Amino acid sequence: MEEYCAVCGAKLDKDNKYMDNMCWDCKFGGAEEYEEMHQKDWTGNSKSTFVTLGASNHVEHERAENDYYATDPHALEIFLEKLKQDGGITLSHNIWECVCGNGNLSKVLMKQGYNVISTDLIDRGYGMANYDFLTMQELPDQVRQWDILTNPPYKYAKEFVEKALELTKDGRYVIMFLKIQFLEGKA
Ligand SMILES: C[S@@+](CC[C@H](N)C(=O)[O-])C[C@H]1O[C@@H](n2cnc3c(N)ncnc32)[C@H](O)[C@@H]1O
Repeated sequence: MEEYCAVCGAKLDKDNKYMDNMCWDCKFGGAEEYEEMHQKDWTGNSKSTFVTLGASNHVEHERAENDYYATDPHALEIFLEKLKQDGGITLSHNIWECVCGNGNLSKVLMKQGYNVISTDLIDRGYGMANYDFLTMQELPDQVRQWDILTNPPYKYAKEFVEKALELTKDGRYVIMFLKIQFLEGKA
């Protein structure tokens, strides 16, 4: 049976296969790097989850280019655990992280056994670059039933939500880490 890299979609063969579902080009350093990612101080600095998810009032000049604020991986772990406990929603095995950054969310998903495809506008050393989500016409792989899960640039949150809903098939889920104020917005 043919195997493909879950990150970039490359066909795996003896030369480029790093592990099940992943080629050498896309490999991340396994358990060690995963551990490192967790040990980072995500709460104390100005690029923390709380900036990403909106608990901090930062001024415009502090904004990173393309709104690049990586998400604390623990936030997703808590979310997935809660989903399991609550029941009712079962994510697809195939998940598209459409603004993957350096892969914080993708790595957690893959660690939990999901088949993840990761894209971003910018090359941040992870996943596939040069994919402008807002102008994409179709999913990277139409055959599969993808859910979309990400933490989009908040400035364009509405556009990302609308685009994700447009691209997903009926019955699939769109999950976005957003500021709670998003729910209060008129639009
Ligand atoms: C808030 S960061 C989140 C990164 C990652 N999802 C995470 O949670 O760690 C937003 C990401 O969106 C990417 N981005 C911005 N505009 C984009 C677009 N139009 N299409 C695809 N990616 C975009 C940025 O390059 C950045 O990596």
